[in-house]
Amino acid sequence: MGVIDLHGFPSYPCANLPKSRALRQNISRVCCVQNLKTGDSFIRPHLRQLAAYQPILPFEVLSAQLGRKPEDIVKLDANENPYGPPPEATLGNMKFPYVYPDPQSRRLRDALAHDSGLESQYILVGCGADELIDLIMRCVLDPGEKIIDCPPTFSMYVFDAAVNGAGVIKGETSFHYLFICIISEEDLLKILDMPILVVLDEAYIEFSGVKSRMKWVKKYENLIVLRTFSKRAGLAGLRVGYGAFPLSIIEYMWRAKQPYNVSVAGEVAALAALSNGQYLEDVRDALVRERERLFKLLKDVPFLDPYPSHSNFILCEVTCGKDAKRLKEDLAKMGVMVRHYNSKELKGFVRVSAGKPEHTDALMVCLKQFY
Ligand SMILES: Cc1ncc(COP(=O)(O)O)c(C=O)c1O
Repeated sequence: MGVIDLHGFPSYPCANLPKSRALRQNISRVCCVQNLKTGDSFIRPHLRQLAAYQPILPFEVLSAQLGRKPEDIVKLDANENPYGPPPEATLGNMKFPYVYPDPQSRRLRDALAHDSGLESQYILVGCGADELIDLIMRCVLDPGEKIIDCPPTFSMYVFDAAVNGAGVIKGETSFHYLFICIISEEDLLKILDMPILVVLDEAYIEFSGVKSRMKWVKKYENLIVLRTFSKRAGLAGLRVGYGAFPLSIIEYMWRAKQPYNVSVAGEVAALAALSNGQYLEDVRDALVRERERLFKLLKDVPFLDPYPSHSNFILCEVTCGKDAKRLKEDLAKMGVMVRHYNSKELKGFVRVSAGKPEHTDALMVCLKQFY
């Protein structure tokens, strides 16, 4: 069943135009010929099989359930940056909220060029890195093609591949597109030698001590590097991510992206964040310090086995026969949110974000009640 283009079929009351009359007759003919179908029959077949993304419970919902103020919920489930953006990133700085944003985010891309040392023509900004992951897949994947995923990793790679009708391979060698987060220089060079498109996701690079490879896109036509303001600048709620692309690829991203994908508010806040480098460094240092303290404390919990981390979160295996999902639910009842995934690779784990020192303290008080 196709989609009828209703161009020329006004929804306002001037329906006696000859064009719209003909169109109406056509529509009624189509409706008579085909029996009315159920709504899901209009959905593309591969999307009918799509498993819904497993979202986190919004913290306002949990706070209402527990009868507590949202600010009293300890939110360590989504790797946000609880320090938020620097004070100058206020929406009061928005002069023209009623005007559509610059489709090319020129001011922000210039500021990012200054920040990264990579010229702005290689940079594209998106509504979060999430949007760019989807945009890349929409541009490069044909239905039935495959990406390689290295689990446990960011669940949106598999999710967006499924939305775009592509398959996923784990750990095999015949693939065309590879999504990776952390990799040594030596390994990255080896992979870039292969005839595959490599997407290096540097969402957490600030916490790793590793230098960004954004500039490498000038040399490697098969490399895309993604970054985000969600973690480094505490702007997860305003949705601003960016990517570095080879010129031969970015041209198509421009053609396919939604024109107004980055809001005026997002651009203003991201620009303000970049203008206060000292704040961003201080916050990064505080989160790295807290991650190290959290790691040591989690190591002392008898039923948790934390993995060393280069990001702003710690993955913990739940041991001693304790159920990871149950642990997450019990902590939520005490107002502490951590992440649990039902996937095969992660169902025995919980993931805890590094927050402020008081968040770690509250988590430890709750965990102590289980031993
Ligand atoms: C590895 C990774 N990439 C990308 C993102 C998404 O970033 P954004 O908030 O900019 O969409 C996340 C978010 O948690 C992430 O963990």
